[in-house]
This record gives sequence, structure tokens and C-alpha cells, in this order.
Amino acid sequence: MLKIGLSINGESINLSVPDETTLLSLLRDYLHLTGAKLGCGVGDCGACSVIVGGKLVNSCLMLAIQADGLEVQTIEGLAKAGSLHPIQKAFEERASLQCGFCGPGVIMSTKALLDQNPNPTTQEIRDALSGNLCRCTGYTKMIEAAHEAANFLRDNSNGLLGSKQCQKK
Ligand code: FES
Ligand code: FES
Repeated sequence: MLKIGLSINGESINLSVPDETTLLSLLRDYLHLTGAKLGCGVGDCGACSVIVGGKLVNSCLMLAIQADGLEVQTIEGLAKAGSLHPIQKAFEERASLQCGFCGPGVIMSTKALLDQNPNPTTQEIRDALSGNLCRCTGYTKMIEAAHEAANFLRDNSNGLLGSKQCQKK
């Protein structure tokens, strides 16, 4: 067993898990944060995407111990006080998802992009989502939602997540 201490969505967590535990298993099986999905389990689909230390990772490929001491952001941490994060809101308004299985990963990939690049081109959004496989959509509405969220976040540079609604552009 390994002792791990990390921050998940701003909350400090300390626990012991078997050595081989992946970060995805830590989130889903030990902490019951089931937003990140187990799709392929081998790094191909992006359904398990979360942000660790500011970088997007496939949590199925990362051992939990590798996140020791780091800040982990998951889809569960985006909505605040009952209000969707602007990225989530834009995806909802654009009906960018169908079955939704890929959604948490796609949204975390979008967040990782916009955290680094607040004004991405369509090609940069395509590149950022290239590791997220979606069986249902053609990605067009996801890209529109990413642009809309980027516009909103730039227009509200303090990143307020509260009662303001995303404005359709
Ligand atoms: S489940 Fe991790 S990349 Fe597919
Ligand atoms: S919405 Fe179904 S896999 Fe993407």
C-alpha cells in the first residue's frame, strides 16, 4: 500500500491505495468521482481526461502515486454553487454532446486549452480535442461551444462562474 496526499478540486485528500492503483481508479473507485470515464484504458480515447498540476492527462495511464502532492482538477470541480462552468454551459446551450460518455473528458480538454490559450483558433481547438474520441457527434458543436466559452471567459476576465449566463454570439 502507498500513502498518497493530493488536492482534488481544492480539497486535500490523504489515503492509502495499492501500489498499482491508477489515478482513474483512485478517482472512481476510492473517491466515487465518476465523471472521468474508463473507456479504452490504454490512452486512446480521452474519456478519462483530468488536469494534474495544470496539465491534461489520461488518468487511466497515470499511477495514483504520480499525482502525490499535486492538484487534480476533475469535471466535478467545475460547477460552483449550483452554476455550471461557462464551458459546461456553452456545451449545454449548443447541445454539443449526445450520449455524453465522452463529455467529461472533452470538457476537461477544453478547459486545459482555455487555461493556457484564452483565444484559440478553430485548428487549435481541433488539436486540443484530438485525443478525445466521440462516437456520436461530428465535433462541430463542440468546437462552437469552445469558441463561445472562450469568448465568455475573455469578456469576464475574472472567470466568474456565478450567476452570469453565457451569451450566444
Ligand atoms: S480510458 Fe483513458 S484514454 Fe481511454
Ligand atoms: S457524445 Fe457520445 S461519445 Fe461523445
